[in-house]
Amino acid sequence: MAPPLRAERVPAPPLAVLLELTHRCPLSCPYCSNPLQLVGLRDELATADWLRVLGEAAELGVLQVHFSGGEPTLRKDLPELLQHARSLGLYCNLITSGVGVERERLLALQQAGLDHLQLSIQDSEERGADRIAGYAGSHRRKLALARWCGELGLPLTLNAVVHRHNAERVAAMIELALDLGAGRLEVAHTQYYGWGLKNRAALMPTRAQLDAVTAVVEDARLRLRGTLTIDYVTPDYYARRPKACMGGWAQRFVNITPEGKVLPCHAAETIAELHFDSVRERGLGEIWRESDAFQRYRGTDWMPEPCRGCERREIDWGGCRCQALALSGRADTLDPVCDRSPDHAAVRELAERESQAPAPEFVYRKIRPAGNRAP
Ligand code: SF4
Ligand code: FES
Repeated sequence: MAPPLRAERVPAPPLAVLLELTHRCPLSCPYCSNPLQLVGLRDELATADWLRVLGEAAELGVLQVHFSGGEPTLRKDLPELLQHARSLGLYCNLITSGVGVERERLLALQQAGLDHLQLSIQDSEERGADRIAGYAGSHRRKLALARWCGELGLPLTLNAVVHRHNAERVAAMIELALDLGAGRLEVAHTQYYGWGLKNRAALMPTRAQLDAVTAVVEDARLRLRGTLTIDYVTPDYYARRPKACMGGWAQRFVNITPEGKVLPCHAAETIAELHFDSVRERGLGEIWRESDAFQRYRGTDWMPEPCRGCERREIDWGGCRCQALALSGRADTLDPVCDRSPDHAAVRELAERESQAPAPEFVYRKIRPAGNRAP
């Protein structure tokens, strides 16, 4: 057994835990950030496992739980999980595609303990939205769900993923968020992880599109202050400084996969050399504090130069480990989004080149993993 950590090395508890209840999903979005290899229904954690994990999260000091997926409402035990989370004093957020959730079901989830709902939208207009989702009628269903949230007094955030096919309609998406009564809108340029990396060239916006979206968002933020909060996630490939991915590796968030693996971020399994513990075998608190994977890139001890001597090392924590691996071939180096990386210029050129070329066809993902029973 590993020796106990020195008191000053014991990490603060995570703020939030994200439970990927299932990878099953009715949509087929080309920018899906879930991994290439999905977890099948037969390997998903059982209800009793998730109930235990919620207890361990509360014990660890977690404040918020995000029920996510795939599409988390495909789990019939969601009300039971919400009820338990609420009884433990956890703030409960549901991240949903909104497809397949009728008003009655929404009411039942609210009564079970749901505090907040986060709904993805693919576009402001039906044709574009349904094309991205790969699902006819999805946009209409999302709008209905958003309106039910208003009727039931359930706080709503809309999440709009932006790319070269919908960048011109960001102003319309802001109007849609207002019309639907959302309190918050996240305008997030596509992040290229998991399946989304396959569609990077089909989704990459031009520099001009990026600048236009930024101007629209900045104007709306001023105009709508006090009415609608707008979070803005800029595209990594055009940036000069990386984001503090997940608020720093193993510092604020925990991600648990449908089969129970505990990850510092949703893409961490792309770092093949790391072993990720499962809640089937170890307690969540022990994994958070002591597991090799969580300790590997936590803090600044792991950093090479130039991060080690950089004034931003405790601001962005060297950027994203998974992106460093994807673009520079190593997880233990600085994120090449940083202009101090020797790979930075190549990343910028790649973005320019892909965005200027004709967009390739989307590669839609087959959401139901092989060997699954029907949901
Ligand atoms: Fe961040 Fe490292 Fe770049 Fe400094 S050198 S800005 S710490 S990625
Ligand atoms: Fe894994 Fe950024 S997605 S560290």
